[in-house]
Amino acid sequence: MELCRATAFSWTHTVSTSLHVSLPLSKFETKRLSIWCASDQTLKANTMTVSITGATGFIGRRLVQRLHADNHSVHVLTRSKSKAELIFPVKEFPGIVIAEEPEWKDSIRGSNGVVNLAGVPISTRWSPEIKKEIKDSRIRVTSKVIDLINDLPDSVRPTVLVSATAVGYYGTSETQVFDEQSPSGNDYLAEVCREWEATALKVNKDVRLALIRIGVVLGKDGGALAKMIPLFMVFAGGPLGSGKQWFSWIHLDDIVNLIYEALSNPSYKGVINGTAPNPVRFAEMCEHLGNVLGRPSWLPVPDFALKVVLGEGASVVLDGQRVLPVKAKELGFTFKYSSDRGIGGVWDDGWGGRKSRRRLRVAVDLDNFTFSHEQRRKARRLVLCQNLTSRLVMVSHQLGRLVPTTS
Ligand SMILES: NC(=O)c1ccc[n+]([C@@H]2O[C@H](COP(=O)([O-])OP(=O)(O)OC[C@H]3O[C@@H](n4cnc5c(N)ncnc54)[C@H](OP(=O)(O)O)[C@@H]3O)[C@@H](O)[C@H]2O)c1
Repeated sequence: MELCRATAFSWTHTVSTSLHVSLPLSKFETKRLSIWCASDQTLKANTMTVSITGATGFIGRRLVQRLHADNHSVHVLTRSKSKAELIFPVKEFPGIVIAEEPEWKDSIRGSNGVVNLAGVPISTRWSPEIKKEIKDSRIRVTSKVIDLINDLPDSVRPTVLVSATAVGYYGTSETQVFDEQSPSGNDYLAEVCREWEATALKVNKDVRLALIRIGVVLGKDGGALAKMIPLFMVFAGGPLGSGKQWFSWIHLDDIVNLIYEALSNPSYKGVINGTAPNPVRFAEMCEHLGNVLGRPSWLPVPDFALKVVLGEGASVVLDGQRVLPVKAKELGFTFKYSSDRGIGGVWDDGWGGRKSRRRLRVAVDLDNFTFSHEQRRKARRLVLCQNLTSRLVMVSHQLGRLVPTTS
């Protein structure tokens, strides 16, 4: 019999890896030993090997850290080994496997589960080429992963695939509420999500598939916030667009926990919305962000100014959707950042203070999300014009009320 963790065993008989027990065991001791052996077997059985595409990204990095910390084996499926090795240095991540595309097949073959997170980021200025790449990159990687899984013999095929998609599936609305049963929208991002999901659905029917429709992920180390902060810097803070658009967010820790749970819990299958239970209007989110960044949130940023900077991609921040995590709640998933603290809870997590602000700005720089001088000037001019006009309107309105009428 093999015993692997003698350290966890507080018992008087000598126990080694070859199980040497010098005295005959009493009935009670035999029972304890068998319980311990069984629990050790369970622990071993619960240890997973997980292959992850997009592991070097914002969500992937945290997921790898979690899995690695819990002694699961991780295979990072990447386009660039050298980039991945910098992100996961062997000293901090001993035993981690980093595989470039030709080696993905062997990695997936040895895995119990696969997580598919890869895709070119969407929060950039959209051009026709970028729009094409937003869709193609997702379909390409997902197709590849599905083919590799499906081509494996049953005995070595992973049993679960957790594949990312997004709340953009539902389209946008200021009034509707969306859950997993809601139909898809009819804009560009809805089309991307539909095709992305349809590709993942081609996985072998014996593989449990969890499709996570992810909301805007908030976390200290980058992600959506790192993309929004430059907008605040350029425009001196203030709600973007009308501020009435819905913002279905989720904290990084919660989305990672949800993916982790979907890997290990057989009840997690089909579409699951990965959003916090309490979406907010964008103005509320901007108010919190303005406070954290020390920028007042009273100068509204008009739609057209954002479009100058982001092009059609401005729709990502100008239009939103109110999405509820009905399935996750039914499954009993516990959100760490839940409705009692609301989105405000995200900022309690050590955001205040100069150090975090500096960190946020560094994250922005690293993300290479910079505007050209010309774009900046153009956008500022537009905002200035808009604000001057609205102020003039306000002043003339006030004057109109002060000046007595002569009729
Ligand atoms: N973060 C959010 O708020 C959010 C919201 C909704 C949905 N999602 C979805 O969740 C997934 C993970 O999000 P994330 O924020 O962690 O993404 P991310 O930080 O942008 O990272 C995605 C990863 O995809 C790979 N990738 C980038 N460009 C690619 C291309 N042209 N072709 C193939 N692979 C490419 C990269 O990995 P390698 O360089 O190692 O190959 C990259 O690290 C994405 O698919 C995203 O659309 C995210």
